[in-house]
Amino acid sequence: MQFPISRPRRLRKSEAIRRMVRETRMTSDNLILPAFVVAGEGVRQEIGSMPGFFRFSVDKLEDEAKEARDLGLPAMLLFGIPESKDPLGSGAWADDGIVQRAMRRLKEKVPELLLFGDVCMCEYTSHGHCGELVDGEVANDRTLELLAKTAVSQARAGADLVAPSDMMDGRVGAIRDALDEAGFSDVPIMSYAAKYASGFYGPFREAAESTPAMGDRRGYQMDPANVREALKEVALDVGEGADILMVKPAIPYLDVITRVRDAFELPVAAYHVSGEYSMLKAAALQGWLDEKRCALESITAIRRAGADLVITYYAKDLARWL
Ligand code: PBG
Repeated sequence: MQFPISRPRRLRKSEAIRRMVRETRMTSDNLILPAFVVAGEGVRQEIGSMPGFFRFSVDKLEDEAKEARDLGLPAMLLFGIPESKDPLGSGAWADDGIVQRAMRRLKEKVPELLLFGDVCMCEYTSHGHCGELVDGEVANDRTLELLAKTAVSQARAGADLVAPSDMMDGRVGAIRDALDEAGFSDVPIMSYAAKYASGFYGPFREAAESTPAMGDRRGYQMDPANVREALKEVALDVGEGADILMVKPAIPYLDVITRVRDAFELPVAAYHVSGEYSMLKAAALQGWLDEKRCALESITAIRRAGADLVITYYAKDLARWL
């Protein structure tokens, strides 16, 4: 039906009518707040490249977790920055490792909040790569064992879900087997199924001190130019037992989110990454963008594209605004 019979503006006339026909509903029920945990006590340190976002020692993280819970957020995703790093990244699976200690404390003090553990080696290795190096290359199959140990140790410390972000082949299966064998068959895996080798991780690497000492991650993370390959990666992870599928970053990859949503039945998560946050923050601090409006619009777009869950550094702000 053509103009003048059809007048789409009729349904945009007032906020009441717009609200009624809105297709994408925003809620804090599906937002996940990332957190960086550091050693020490009383630490609440702003990250230079991520204004308004902090690294916490375990004691201060407890306050952050309580605030998240009180705002109605369901979950946090924990990244650990260990005191010392070694070539294998042994801090990742240490029973008294930084994430393990944080999880024990939060599970005791804030039991309502779901905890996701980031499973990756790059925050723990002295060279900053996501696994064990052999002749300067990340050795895939040897790294699987380290990742599996890390996931089990996080589950022991109370992780409700584990989230492997390393992009090794076969890691979801290896982690699933290890969790089942250790008696954690009910701990779900949220797989970073389509994780791209992205420049937008820059601020995170400052926050987590995980910039590779040499080379880059293009040998294991995906080429930004590919989308069919993302569907292949996702299919493999589904076959290996992934429970939630993630696409990362989010805004530059909305088409990937939609393709994954259409092709698979599992919940889809998207990670609005550090660089996406920092871009908005920087422009807002200059007075060039309306932060609230643009952050809400960004996360709405990610949900509209098909993401069920969104991991975002804006989670607390969104919970306040919604
Ligand atoms: C670890 C990991 C990274 C991010 C999440 N997990 C960094 C990387 O792959 O270099 C990035 C998250 C962000 O930028 O917010 N492998």
